[in-house]
Amino acid sequence: MNEIPYRRIVATRFGGPEVLEPVEATLPAPPPGYARLKVLAVGVGFTDLMARSGDYLLQRKAPFTPGYELVGEVADFVLDGPRPHWLREGARVAVALTRMAAYTEYISLPMWQLVPLPDGLDPLTAAAVPLDWITALSVLETHGRVPAGGAVLIHGASGGVGRALSRLGELRGLRMYGTASAAGSEERLARHGVTFIDYRRQDFEAVVRDREPGGVQAVFDHIGGVNLTKGHRLLAPGGVLVSYAFSGRPGRMAADTVRGAMRVKLMNLRPGRRTALSMVPHEIGSDRNWYRGSLERLLDMADRGVIDPEIGAVHPLMQAADVHAALERREITGKVILTVD
Ligand SMILES: NC(=O)c1ccc[n+]([C@@H]2O[C@H](COP(=O)([O-])OP(=O)(O)OC[C@H]3O[C@@H](n4cnc5c(N)ncnc54)[C@H](OP(=O)(O)O)[C@@H]3O)[C@@H](O)[C@H]2O)c1
Repeated sequence: MNEIPYRRIVATRFGGPEVLEPVEATLPAPPPGYARLKVLAVGVGFTDLMARSGDYLLQRKAPFTPGYELVGEVADFVLDGPRPHWLREGARVAVALTRMAAYTEYISLPMWQLVPLPDGLDPLTAAAVPLDWITALSVLETHGRVPAGGAVLIHGASGGVGRALSRLGELRGLRMYGTASAAGSEERLARHGVTFIDYRRQDFEAVVRDREPGGVQAVFDHIGGVNLTKGHRLLAPGGVLVSYAFSGRPGRMAADTVRGAMRVKLMNLRPGRRTALSMVPHEIGSDRNWYRGSLERLLDMADRGVIDPEIGAVHPLMQAADVHAALERREITGKVILTVD
């Protein structure tokens, strides 16, 4: 097997979108148990922007290649055991990574991470699924365990993970309240039956308390800080606050994550209500069967049109810096996909 020349996007140091630069490299033959993928499409998440600016706890060193999710085509592979029935050159797979590296034209990955795409599913739609939707499953099912018909509060219901939570919550028949502020949020949330709360103009605690005097079964939070206190107060007895990020103070998110995670664990000592932390890159690595089963299920749902990941924009991988700049200017809503020719 030959080395493959390719390009990837590297955050050369921590900083603004301009630190993202294309870098040429060569990919050696895969070791046993690995496949080399030709990347077709990469999902962009808010976490990529945090990491690029040096504000993400799980990515503490530069240079690095951002991105947690991709769809690719198997270029070649070296078996270290029985051959999975779907594995062949040209097979299309989706992947959520445990460490960032997805903004690339080629990548070598262990085979357990590769989940085959249903035949009819297009790579762009599939690339919008892995991180946001697995995170939503982790929050809703692993940690939330909300009974059908329960009431929940979803912060950032207009965002990538928030939209996934809204659709999966709709499928479970939940009564949902969602905070957001972007233009058009009210209408977009209403599509999934989510009652819109404008977090810039309304006190979400007062609105939810008014509608749900007995409290809600779960609060899903990615902001941290005072949101945690208010969210915890809104819980019905037996309810759960699931925290999956601490992004309320840009520039201080890494430190806030350490403090916030400690706080969530301490809050869990209070009787009557639960708190939980969702950390999906860690959960993928520690429970491979859960990861594979979850991604297979979600890709199948996307193929059948049961879930419809909303793609806001599609751009070439090599324009990643411009895409990050546009996202920071809030010019794009919906999921952004980077494509490789
Ligand atoms: N735990 C994990 O494993 C995991 C996995 C994936 C992502 N994450 C984290 O989850 C967070 C969301 O990621 P994403 O990709 O979904 O981001 P996103 O698409 O940028 O969405 C973020 C959302 O947060 C909303 N928001 C901003 N400030 C808010 C506030 N004060 N109150 C309520 N909502 C607010 C925004 O709403 P408007 O634009 O409408 O104002 C937007 O809808 C990020 O911090 C990311 O790092 C964690």
